[in-house]
Amino acid sequence: MKRVRIAPSLMCADFISLGPQLDIMQKAGIDYLHIDIMDGRYVPNFTLGPDFCKRLADYSPIPLDIHLMIEDPDVHVEKFAMFQDAVVSFHPETSRHPLRTIALIKSFGARPAIAVDPAVPAASIKEILPHVGLVCVMTVNPGYAGQRLIPETLAKVREIAQMAASQDHAVEIEVDGNVSWENIPAMIRAGGDVLVAGTSSLYDGAAGLEQNIARMRSLIGSCQD
Ligand code: DX5
Ligand code: ZN
Repeated sequence: MKRVRIAPSLMCADFISLGPQLDIMQKAGIDYLHIDIMDGRYVPNFTLGPDFCKRLADYSPIPLDIHLMIEDPDVHVEKFAMFQDAVVSFHPETSRHPLRTIALIKSFGARPAIAVDPAVPAASIKEILPHVGLVCVMTVNPGYAGQRLIPETLAKVREIAQMAASQDHAVEIEVDGNVSWENIPAMIRAGGDVLVAGTSSLYDGAAGLEQNIARMRSLIGSCQD
């Protein structure tokens, strides 16, 4: 049975008490810290940056899963790809030569990944897929937390999972956007095995982080029985 991983979306975290939250995540065996980097050009928003990633990496052993929603990733990869065990994803339409960008990420020691906007077809990453260890399938339009699932993207999760299987290529399929209590079962059934959890679940105000992690683990378990 595949292991479904949880990647809290730190753009949604309570920055006032981030340290204790990271301790809770580590104790709970969280697999990745999902860090959304936005440049105000590829997406009309700004969020986190390289200094934030450095502070996180210095404080917590949980690997960083850095999602570059930026133009010209080649210019900026060096700022993000040197963290131990980091995954660095970018949107292929922002790079003139995506395979060169992937090689650049690797050259700094990180694991390369590709991020797929809801309007970008699965077929367009067929040649890229064998070169990455993770695909971040966006199930909302990039740029903001708190959006609603674009339902058609679930078929794309399935399509990419099937593409990876046909290429006999082991890849983690990450689902990013409106990973809610209601949507998680369908996301897992479609083939998602890393869940980017933000305001729709882990940071759903009702309960605390610890309870929401436990609730997510139990929901994941029930989807796999
Ligand atoms: C969207 C971000 C995600 C996510 C946040 O650009 O990449 O991190 O949407 O979580 P939700 O969707 O649950 O608020
Ligand atoms: Zn993201």
